[in-house]
Amino acid sequence: MRFIDELDLQGKRVLIRVDYNVPLKGDTIIDDNRIVQSLPTLRLALERGASLVLCSHLGRPKGTPMPEFSLQPVARRLAQLLDMDVRMAPDCIGPEVQAMAEALVPGQVLLLENLRFHAGETKNDPEFSKALASLGQVYVNDAFGASHRAHASVVGVTEYMDDCCGGLLLKKEWQYLGEALKSPERPFVAIIGGAKVSSKLGILRSLMDKVDSMIVGGAMANTFRKAQGFEVGRSLVENDLLEDSMAIMLEAQERGIKFYLPVDFILGTDPKEGVASGVRTYQDIPADEMILDTGPASHTLFAEVIKDAKTIIWNGPMGAFENPAFAQGSTNLCRLMAALPALTILGGGETNVIVEQNKLTDKFSFISTGGGSFLEFLEGKELPAFTALEAKS
Ligand code: 3PG
Repeated sequence: MRFIDELDLQGKRVLIRVDYNVPLKGDTIIDDNRIVQSLPTLRLALERGASLVLCSHLGRPKGTPMPEFSLQPVARRLAQLLDMDVRMAPDCIGPEVQAMAEALVPGQVLLLENLRFHAGETKNDPEFSKALASLGQVYVNDAFGASHRAHASVVGVTEYMDDCCGGLLLKKEWQYLGEALKSPERPFVAIIGGAKVSSKLGILRSLMDKVDSMIVGGAMANTFRKAQGFEVGRSLVENDLLEDSMAIMLEAQERGIKFYLPVDFILGTDPKEGVASGVRTYQDIPADEMILDTGPASHTLFAEVIKDAKTIIWNGPMGAFENPAFAQGSTNLCRLMAALPALTILGGGETNVIVEQNKLTDKFSFISTGGGSFLEFLEGKELPAFTALEAKS
């Protein structure tokens, strides 16, 4: 795959697909990390004498303009961060947008309106792809977070542009995640949490080829404990996945992979409003209570497992962390990892939130900007946008 730092951009109009799908409250941006992460690519292109046409989706407006999904707040924040004027287009294709793009001179930035205001984006429609492609002379994909989608702005558009490459953020994701999975420094430990085994089954299976140890936490662990024959009370459990969970544990055993589950749990009656009602070991869960977080003995166990690791990948919370009463397991893990000298990689929306809440973002080696794309990458799936870029390289 080619990347933007290998290209001559002098005097070129560069169409850059960024992922500015940021959380908003009204028109206030709650977390601007994705905008901040795009700056190195934008600055590089500007320094090299390009003008920039930026495009992104925001939310899921389903092919029709919806003011609450406008990228205007993003344009304002981007202008502050770049400390320069950022023009905002009224749409992402069409004659008016075309004229605005063609009027740009080197050093200027135009942000297109939400790509998903047109159904052609998610349908990977050729006409829409062509119209987007006509706005630039070079195409850069820096939207790792959207690279698992076979959409026009990350796949179709590459058909209609000669010069296509990845941006610096895409390069960083590609290198960190790719390297960690291809040739990790060992011991390599994966920590997978979250609510459902069903959404992580592919990842667990795929990681089995790579890791030395695996820790499974979060409500997923309930299904594994139930598969071992233990009672889990009223806890979230996927009864249809008991066999699959058992198969994973047996496979780990056969392959010499050390597999760990929480050994104690914080209980409660309601993940949202409830308070913690006590700590119990996994053999001792009352019928009328729910497992809502991992307990202190689990923390001690996990600390022992990861203390000598050279590479650690983490995705998914250890408990119902949105409620502070059940956030301790995730917080403890986060603090523990942040203090280790290992290469620490994490990703996925909830995991990123935990790290931000604990103000430890700068203590990890790499935090992926991807949600679904991070998970699919870990699963070993081909990302359609990567395939499209590779075909053009
Ligand atoms: C994300 O937030 O994970 C990406 O921006 C992709 O968004 P989507 O799930 O709406 O395609």
